[in-house]
Amino acid sequence: IVFSSSVEASICVAQEIAELIRAKQKENKHCILGLATGSSPIKVYEELVRMHKEESLSFSNVVTFNLDEYYPMDKSSVHSYYYFMHQHLFNHIDIQPKNINIPNGTVSIDELHQYCIDYDLKIKEYGGLDFQLLGIGRTGHIGFNEPGSHYNSGTRSITLDHLTRVDAAPSFLGIDNVPKKAITMGIGTVKKAKRIVLLAWGHNKASIVKETIEGEITSEVPATYLQEHENTTFILNDEAAQDL
Ligand code: GLP
Repeated sequence: IVFSSSVEASICVAQEIAELIRAKQKENKHCILGLATGSSPIKVYEELVRMHKEESLSFSNVVTFNLDEYYPMDKSSVHSYYYFMHQHLFNHIDIQPKNINIPNGTVSIDELHQYCIDYDLKIKEYGGLDFQLLGIGRTGHIGFNEPGSHYNSGTRSITLDHLTRVDAAPSFLGIDNVPKKAITMGIGTVKKAKRIVLLAWGHNKASIVKETIEGEITSEVPATYLQEHENTTFILNDEAAQDL
């Protein structure tokens, strides 16, 4: 779906999430949300916060699983996705802290493998993700599933692509400060979500959006695996859709 404005598009996505939360509340069920970081979902979070404050949207039944985190990374660092999520969403809504799951960038190397297995297990125990929000990186990554990621991969640690680190460099005040590794939910984890919405805004996403939607399915552009998912929608603005 192509919108002329990313703000209008973000409001639509927030409305879909709010409807899902309310529907689950009526059934007395948890609503399991997979959440993303980066600049793309910021307006969606802003709108959800507004709905919480002005339309009494409650998050008391919501359980969240974030896609990724840099590794190693302290929770208190302004660069952490932990910090990002609290700043943009969690600090402003009534979600129960025990229902927030974000890959832990401080887990020791020895525990990392088991930690990732347990992250996927926990999602499974909740019955899987009801909704997964995604952005896309210029390498074609979703979460931090860089080129070469297997279609059936689970949560794991990965090495960041050079281009991903270049794109992150300005916020880290230089590429040397960007971590070389991250923890990410796998492609297999994401693809099990019942509903996926990917957001992309701006000219600099146009060529990867075209490759992702129109190109062959390949591990070289991990987001192309979404073509196989039966309930995925790409929400784009005119600039991101210009090459389609
Ligand atoms: C990072 C995140 C991704 C995100 C991507 C795009 O690499 N790990 O989950 O989709 O950035 O970021 P932006 O939305 O800022 O373009």
